[in-house]
Amino acid sequence: MEHKHTTSPFITVRNSTIHGRGVFAKIPIPKGTRIIEYVGEKITKKEADRRAHIPLNKHKEDQSCGAVYLFELNKRHDIDGNVSYNTARHINHSCEPNAETEIIRGKIWIIALRDIAKDEEIVYNYSYGYEDYHEHRCYCRANQCVGYILAEEHWPKLKK
Ligand SMILES: C[S@@+](CC[C@H](N)C(=O)[O-])C[C@H]1O[C@@H](n2cnc3c(N)ncnc32)[C@H](O)[C@@H]1O
Ligand SMILES: [Zn+2]
Repeated sequence: MEHKHTTSPFITVRNSTIHGRGVFAKIPIPKGTRIIEYVGEKITKKEADRRAHIPLNKHKEDQSCGAVYLFELNKRHDIDGNVSYNTARHINHSCEPNAETEIIRGKIWIIALRDIAKDEEIVYNYSYGYEDYHEHRCYCRANQCVGYILAEEHWPKLKK
């Protein structure tokens, strides 16, 4: 099946100081805006486990490649967003995010947590699990950066 690149009037893709390419606000984005959908191939957890190591290993050899593009859709399925038409795949992680993700009727939306100014990089917390957290160093540069790409619920464990 052929897919068109997903687009949004709010964003543009540029080089990021966090990692590789990033997604930036082209115009001011009001709080609560559904900025863009995270799309890709809907796969089972079993298939996701099989695929997870592919970009991860590539990343170990060449850090300019992203390590993870899998997004948890529900208990049974993930979205593999590592497809060229998924513009949202360029969105980086931050410990001080200006956006969040929400699953609305089976679709993954990137939503503005606050008003976002033109030229700000769009970032959300990837909310990775605690297992192997040390494999995912964070370079978000936020004042409150915890040093790893990790769900906020696990942050207290890092401070111990
Ligand atoms: C979905 S991609 C993000 C887009 C990526 N910058 C690109 O050029 O396509 C996810 C990968 O980007 C990298 N990344 C995203 N946010 C990061 C951060 N805050 N610190 C370090 N690496 C990050 C990691 O390799 C992560 O696995
Ligand atoms: Zn960080």
